Amino acid sequence: MFNDLFSNPDSARNLLVVSYIVASAFFILSLSGLSNPETSRRGNLFGIIGMSIAFVATAVFRVNDYGILIAVIIPAVIIGAVLAARVAMTSMPELVAILHSFVGVAAVLVGYGSYLQPNKLAGAEKSIHEIEVFVGVFIGAITFTGSIVAFGKLRALISSKPLMLPGRHLLNLVMMLVCIGLGYQFMNNPNGLTPLLIMTAIAGVIGVHLVAAIGGGDMPVVVSMLNSYSGWAAAAAGFMLSNDLLIVTGALVGSSGAILSAIMCKAMNRSFISVIAGGFGTTGGTAPAEGTQPEGEVTPISVEETVHLLTEARHVIIVPGYGMAVAQAQHAVAEITKLLRKRGIEVRFGIHPVAGRLPGHMNVLLAEAKVPYDIVLEMDEINEDFPETDVALIIGANDTVNPAALDDPNSPIAGMPVLEVWKAQFSIVMKRGMASGYAGVENPLFFKENNRMLFGDAKKNVDAILAQLIDSKK
Ligand code: TAP
Repeated sequence: MFNDLFSNPDSARNLLVVSYIVASAFFILSLSGLSNPETSRRGNLFGIIGMSIAFVATAVFRVNDYGILIAVIIPAVIIGAVLAARVAMTSMPELVAILHSFVGVAAVLVGYGSYLQPNKLAGAEKSIHEIEVFVGVFIGAITFTGSIVAFGKLRALISSKPLMLPGRHLLNLVMMLVCIGLGYQFMNNPNGLTPLLIMTAIAGVIGVHLVAAIGGGDMPVVVSMLNSYSGWAAAAAGFMLSNDLLIVTGALVGSSGAILSAIMCKAMNRSFISVIAGGFGTTGGTAPAEGTQPEGEVTPISVEETVHLLTEARHVIIVPGYGMAVAQAQHAVAEITKLLRKRGIEVRFGIHPVAGRLPGHMNVLLAEAKVPYDIVLEMDEINEDFPETDVALIIGANDTVNPAALDDPNSPIAGMPVLEVWKAQFSIVMKRGMASGYAGVENPLFFKENNRMLFGDAKKNVDAILAQLIDSKK
């Protein structure tokens, strides 16, 4: 019976379609699982199952030469496994960026392979096929070179400063128009290889130029945008290869990447266009930008006084930010949380959607340090609780707790939703000095009467707080 199933072309085709439908369902379940920290492990597992089904079904029903498949797969599996096992959490965006470049180059190669392979297509079918090839190669080339530049910037191999060429938008527009012209030639020329090659080179330059114009701090939005492009490139490859699963998967990646980019932009109160247009955000820690200068005095606090305020409190909210990630203070923060909770103090975490430098940055760090999920709350869930909070402990966060976003219409971050920590009885900001955050904006929180500044490296100070808490228990 099994022999029949595999040798009969109809049943083999049906089995392949069923496998692809099941794999697609697993991918959708995976995405829905990944939307919540509590279900994310399951989501990951669904993704692995879906990909395994897709791989086995393709290998069994669509591959003729197993020698080539094995020769390609084995080194790829080894390299992928070693890279993924070794990568540090903070280098994850780099890894994602370089993986996107692979999808891009794969779409380009599939496009060329599909174009050069002899076929009997004619009329509308031929035109549709050529459009698929041209669009697939175009998106793939932009994704490939753009992702390489993103990788270089995130790795600090190239400067993270935005490259602002004069007339750069016009340059992009001209290059796009030339590519459209080449597309016309490609479709109306029996030998379309030359226009295809020229378009590939120009699309590569567009990819470099688009990403080079974006500042270091905006790179996470760009990586998510390239993620979206890589999805569309994969979908285009799916059309060229008549592979339904690749089309579905590409569309899922393409649309989820676009939605993620939009969510990030909204949480930063920036338009998608302004991110793509580039030029904002260099490496952070810049001199404050314009906006009303804050009034009042900065009141420093010592580690001892901080411990005193924390142990006297009944309700504490910890707000982590980019500085906690840089200092790698999450494990000591988790220990402090445990000790305070043992004393009967309610401790919760308030997470801003764009805290840190990548989506879910703080959630991942806190999960890594084994902070229970149920005390880690999103901004919208916790913002109303600050007036009933005794101490808001801000660890390396700055822009995401800046009251100017709400009070100062001239502030560059005006309108961005923020965690309203100043409404707590006391807020304590842990940072090294008075430098601004990613947005380069002065923070009036530091000058408020009920705010205290615990200056120094977050890890050093959190360790000192932890040591005192342990001591005071003895
Ligand atoms: P930021 O506003 O970037 O501020 C981080 C603060 O951490 C800095 O002011 C810095 O002050 C402090 N810091 C750095 N190293 C430290 C250390 N070792 N110990 C203690 N403090 C340290 O952080 P945030 O509140 O998390 O906001 C994130 C920003 O990034 C937002 O503007 C957001 O729009 C932007 N952004 C986020 C994303 C995503 S997806 N998360 C993507 C792109 C951009 P000192 O130098 O004085 O210590």
